[in-house]
Amino acid sequence: MIKIAPSLLSADFANMGETTSRLSDWGSDMVHFDVMDGTFVPAITFGPAMCKAIRAYTKLPIDVHIMVEHPETYIEQFKDAGADYLTFHVEADRHAHRTLQAIRKAGMKAGIALNPATPVEMVEYVLSICDLVLVMSVNPGAGGQSFIKEVLPKVEKLKALREKNGYNYEIEMDGGINEATSKLAAASGADILVSGNAVFKADDPKEMIAKMHLAKK
Ligand code: DX5
Ligand code: ZN
Repeated sequence: MIKIAPSLLSADFANMGETTSRLSDWGSDMVHFDVMDGTFVPAITFGPAMCKAIRAYTKLPIDVHIMVEHPETYIEQFKDAGADYLTFHVEADRHAHRTLQAIRKAGMKAGIALNPATPVEMVEYVLSICDLVLVMSVNPGAGGQSFIKEVLPKVEKLKALREKNGYNYEIEMDGGINEATSKLAAASGADILVSGNAVFKADDPKEMIAKMHLAKK
C-alpha cells in the first residue's frame, strides 16, 4: 500500500502536539515536517526545536523536508531532534553527494528533493546513496497550491532507474495531493504521498487518508 505523510504545514500551529498525536489514529504512515528558512523559499516555518517538541507526541517516523540554503548545516540538529528522514533540495547544495553521505552517517535516511523545473538527471549520479527522492509537484514554499501534472514523468523515470540499477530509494511526491491527484501519483509509481491541505481541511481526515491509501491498486 502507498504511504501517506500528512504535512504539519497545514495543521494548527498553536496545537502541534495534540495534532501530531492524532496522526497515527488517522492511519498516517509518517509525519511530514516542512522547514522553510525565508531564503531558499520566502516563507519561514519552524526548525529543529519544533521537531524535538513534536517527537514526544508520536511514534511515527518524522519525515523532515528542509527547504533551506546550506542544508549541511542542519544535519546534527535534526538528528538530535529525532528526525528519521532528512530530505534537502539539490538546488540548494553544490555538494549533494557529501550531504547525502553525512545524513546517512548521522543515522538518518537521506533524501533529495527536486523542484518542478529540476530534471531527474540532476541527481542521477547520487541515486545509489539515496534512501528517498522527493519529486515536488508544486513550487516549494506554501501549502494549498495546485498539482503540476507535468512532473509525473519524473516519477516514472525514477522508478525505471531504480529497477534497472537495483537502487533502494523510496519515491515521494509532495504538493497538491488530494483524492484525485493521489491516483495520478500512484499510477506513475510514487511510494509516499505528502498531503497538507487535503488531509487537514477534510471534514474527516481519517477517511481522506483511507481514500488516498486506495490510490494504489
Ligand atoms: C510545500 C511543502 C508541502 C506542502 C504540501 O512547500 O513542501 O509539503 O505542505 O501541502 P499541500 O498538500 O497543501 O499542497
Ligand atoms: Zn514538503
